[in-house]
Amino acid sequence: MDRPPATRTPTPDLTPTQRDPEEESVHRALEGYYRTGTPPWDTGVTPPELVDLVEGHDALPPGRALELGCGTGTNATYLARHGWEVAAVDLIDHAVDQAREKAAAAGVTVRLLHGDATRLDELDVPGPFDLFFDLSCYCGIPLHRRDAYAAGLTHRAAPGARLLMFGYGPEPLGNPIHDVTSWAAGVTADELRARFPGWELIDVTPGTNSVPTFWFTLRRDA
Ligand SMILES: C[S@@+](CC[C@H](N)C(=O)[O-])C[C@H]1O[C@@H](n2cnc3c(N)ncnc32)[C@H](O)[C@@H]1O
Repeated sequence: MDRPPATRTPTPDLTPTQRDPEEESVHRALEGYYRTGTPPWDTGVTPPELVDLVEGHDALPPGRALELGCGTGTNATYLARHGWEVAAVDLIDHAVDQAREKAAAAGVTVRLLHGDATRLDELDVPGPFDLFFDLSCYCGIPLHRRDAYAAGLTHRAAPGARLLMFGYGPEPLGNPIHDVTSWAAGVTADELRARFPGWELIDVTPGTNSVPTFWFTLRRDA
């Protein structure tokens, strides 16, 4: 193995992301879930709604996909196994580490990035992407960061790109952390229409959970 050089070329100073108090609360809560074991949402099962888009009657042809809030990588790995070129982002380093292990164990290549889906410019994910997948990430993002999330996707979307998103509706879980208003706000179809100009909301299908949840499909204008 090569020995490390005696002196290192100084790397440019990267500006650390400045999270505000609400974002810090979200980060702490999520980190706690991943550090204390398997989070309740981490089923290891790819939802039928994504399977349908990838393998169903009107399946999309494989292209480039970006998963936002990929957790431990079940669905990024699934997409890569089905011929997609996949990049996937999560805020929590522990989740990204597990996602790397999952992709490696499956023998597929996924570009796994530790970072913020509302600050994609800080990551090397230029796109363009044909598919964005978000399983319960956006609905937990602080409200004041959601326009930045939408702009990041819009900027990286190929003409006609899809966004398949699962989200909780308003206040199904109450508000366990009072300074995180987003967790009570959830996500609605009206919000997505307003925050994603240049996209069409082409489908809203209720989820099967005991609280209000939705599968949203948006299509970027061609
Ligand atoms: C409810 S979990 C779902 C995880 C994964 N999609 C799954 O279904 O197993 C939400 C995920 O989004 C991630 N997340 C939340 N806010 C994020 C942000 N701003 N940028 C990137 N990831 C974020 C969390 O760390 C967490 O892994």
